[in-house]
Amino acid sequence: MKEKIKELLKKRNAIMLAHNYQPPEIQDIADLCGDSLELSIRASLTNAETILFCGVTFMAETASILSPEKTVLLPRKDAGCPMADMVTPEQLKEKLDKFPPMPVVTYVNSSASVKAISTICCTSANAVQVVTSLKEKEMLMIPDRNLAQYTASKTNKKIHLWDGYCPIHNNLTAEDVLKVKNRHPDAVFMAHPECRPDVLELADAITSTSGMIKYAGKSDRSSFIVGTETGMIYPLKKANHDKKFYPASESMVCADMKKITLEDIIKSLETMEGEVKVPEQIRLPALSAVQRMIDLSI
Ligand code: 13P
Ligand code: SF4
Repeated sequence: MKEKIKELLKKRNAIMLAHNYQPPEIQDIADLCGDSLELSIRASLTNAETILFCGVTFMAETASILSPEKTVLLPRKDAGCPMADMVTPEQLKEKLDKFPPMPVVTYVNSSASVKAISTICCTSANAVQVVTSLKEKEMLMIPDRNLAQYTASKTNKKIHLWDGYCPIHNNLTAEDVLKVKNRHPDAVFMAHPECRPDVLELADAITSTSGMIKYAGKSDRSSFIVGTETGMIYPLKKANHDKKFYPASESMVCADMKKITLEDIIKSLETMEGEVKVPEQIRLPALSAVQRMIDLSI
C-alpha cells in the first residue's frame, strides 16, 4: 500500500503532509510530519498541485486558505476537532458585541469562518509571540481557555478567555501526572499548552508537539513523560532512539486524529474525493488572520 501511495502521489503531483499525532504508517510515508505551524508554513510554500493532508479538517482548511489554487485532500471528511467546534462565528460575534473593540487571537484549531472574523491566528508554537506582537494591551483569545491562560501568564496582556478546550488534553489531571512521575522520578515532564493550568504547573517544558521533539533532542536527560496525545510517542522515539518516552496518560487518544487509514489515502488519491475548499468570501478574510501569523513566523 505504501508503494501504491508513493506512485499515486507522483501521478497527482501531490505533497503529503501529516500531523505528529497521525498513525506511524502514515507518518512514515509523509513528505513532512510536523506541528500545526510547520504544516501551515509548508502548505503555503509548496509547488505541488495537490496537498494530501493527513490531519483534521481545520488543518486542511488552513492549507486551502493559503493555497487556493491547489487541490487540498483530506482522506476522511469526518476527521474533525471537538475544540474547533466549540466556537461558531455567531457565538463569537455575540461575545464581541459585549466588549469594547479589541483584537481576536484565534487558535488555528478553529473553523475557517471563525478565522475570517479574527484579527490574527496562532498555534501552540507561537501563541506568546503572536500576542506579544500586538500593540493592544487587551484581547480575546479563542477557543482554548488553557492555551489562553498559559499565554496570559507569559505576557503582560489582559486576555479574555473563551470557554473552549481540547477534551483529550483537558482530561489529563495533575494526579495522573504525579502517578507517572512517581514511577519515573528521573523523567522530565513535557506538557502541551492545551493542558490544564495545574498540570502545566508540574511541567519542566511547555511546548508544541514539534517543540517536544526539539526539546528532547537537545536535552541531556534520558527519559521523558509526554503530556500530549499518545501518538506523539512515535515521532519522539523515532527522533531520539536512545531516550525513553512515557505517556502522561494512556487515555490521551484523539479519535479524530486516528481516522485516516492507508486505504483512505489510496481511495482519495485515486478518486480525488475528499477535497476541502474554503469559499472565497470566507477565505480572503481568513487569509489575512493566517498570513499575519505566518509572516511573524518565517
Ligand atoms: P500542535 O501540533 O500545533 O502542537 O497542536 C496540537 C493539536 O492539538 C493539533 O490538533
Ligand atoms: Fe482537536 Fe484535541 Fe484532537 Fe487536537 S488533539 S485535533 S485539539 S481534539
